[in-house]
Formats: sequence, C-alpha cells, structure tokens
Amino acid sequence: MDSFEFNKIAMAVLGTAFLVMGLNFAADGLFHAEIPEQKGYAIEIAEADTSSESEEPAGPAFDPVEPLLASADAGAGEGVFKKCAACHSVDAGGANKVGPALYGVVNRDIASIDGFSYSGALKEYGEGKQWTYESLNGFLWKPKTYVKGTSMGFGGIKKVEDRANLIAYLREQAESPAELPAQ
Ligand code: HEC
Repeated sequence: MDSFEFNKIAMAVLGTAFLVMGLNFAADGLFHAEIPEQKGYAIEIAEADTSSESEEPAGPAFDPVEPLLASADAGAGEGVFKKCAACHSVDAGGANKVGPALYGVVNRDIASIDGFSYSGALKEYGEGKQWTYESLNGFLWKPKTYVKGTSMGFGGIKKVEDRANLIAYLREQAESPAELPAQ
C-alpha cells in the first residue's frame, strides 16, 4: 500500500468518525427529552375555594334566581320538572332512576345519595358542599358547563324564570323546605 492509498483510507476512516460524531450530536439535540420530575402529565385543576361564596366558574354569566324565588311559582315549576322526571324522582322515598332521587335536594350534600353512582366530576365539584340556590341555578342553567364532566345528560334551562319556578318547586319537595334567601 503506498502512502497515497493509506492517506485515502485514513481520510475515509476519519470522515466516517466525524460523521458519526456529528449524527450523535444531532440526534442528541433532536431526541433529548427533559425527564419530568413527576410521571404523567401535569393537569392543572383550579382548586375550588370553599372558603368564599363566589364559586361561580368562569364563563358566560347566568342570571341569579335568588331575587325571584320569593315570588316564584312552584306550580309552574312542577310543569318544568316534567323535563327532569324521566331521570329523577322527587317525592319522599322516591328511588334513584337514571339520576339520583331529588327529594330534599336544596341544601343537601352534593353527590350524597347512597347507592347512586355519581360521576367523578360531580363528586369532586361537590366535595364538602351543599346544593345551594346559587349552585342549583348554575347547574340547571347548563349542567355540563357548570360542572364540567358531569354525567347528567341534560342541556339546561335557559330562562331564569323557569329555573326560579323549578327551584321553588324542588324546595317544596322536602320534609322541611329550606329557607328562602334573604332579600
Ligand atoms: C337524561 C337524564 C337526566 C335528566 C333529563 C336530568 N337529570 Fe339531573 N342528573 C342525571 C344524572 C345521571 C345525574 C348524576 C350526575 C353526575 O353524577 O355527574 C344527575 C344529577 C342531578 C343533580 C345532583 C343531585 C345530587 O345528588 O347531587 C340535580 C340537582 C339534578 N340532577 C337535577 C335535575 C333537574 C332539576 C332536572 C330537570 C331540569 C334534571 N336533573 C334532568 C340525569 C338527568
């Protein structure tokens, strides 16, 4: 082998070595991934603030029912409840259907009916909370917006008067109806 040929081989070897090194660098840059400290994805869930009254989730506002309740028409609310009756009983001792029994639901602990299989979303939302006029109003306005992930398959009741009448009716379906909100 003359020195010229040797040089050619040496250059080829060197060239290959550089190429491999280069590729290594490139691959490192391309595929180097930060190893997260915690496994899985971090999902930020806003902590529900139970210490304050303002637990309205962000999003389009809905009209409050509180000012309407004193003069609301529970009889008309019974009519509105027809939309719910396929899935809910509301009489004393009523059974769970597709949805949980609703007798005495005003001021009742959220997601608290034994033997009903609530969604994780409602259980989480309701942790340590009761159904107030405010939260019932929000939930019945747009269930899936107010409690994201709820399994209640119902679009909601748009008109605040209808919600007020319905909630007035629900309030009366209880052993001792909850106090009306202070005016
Ligand atoms: C298609 C069936 C369906 C209809 C219609 C429906 N609901 Fe529900 N409802 C459910 C289900 C299922 C749940 C449980 C939701 C969950 O676990 O996320 C539920 C939960 C509720 C809760 C929470 C009860 C608790 O124990 O915490 C209230 C209050 C409620 N519904 C009221 C109503 C009212 C009032 C109407 C009528 C305007 C209505 N629902 C219409 C299926 C329905």
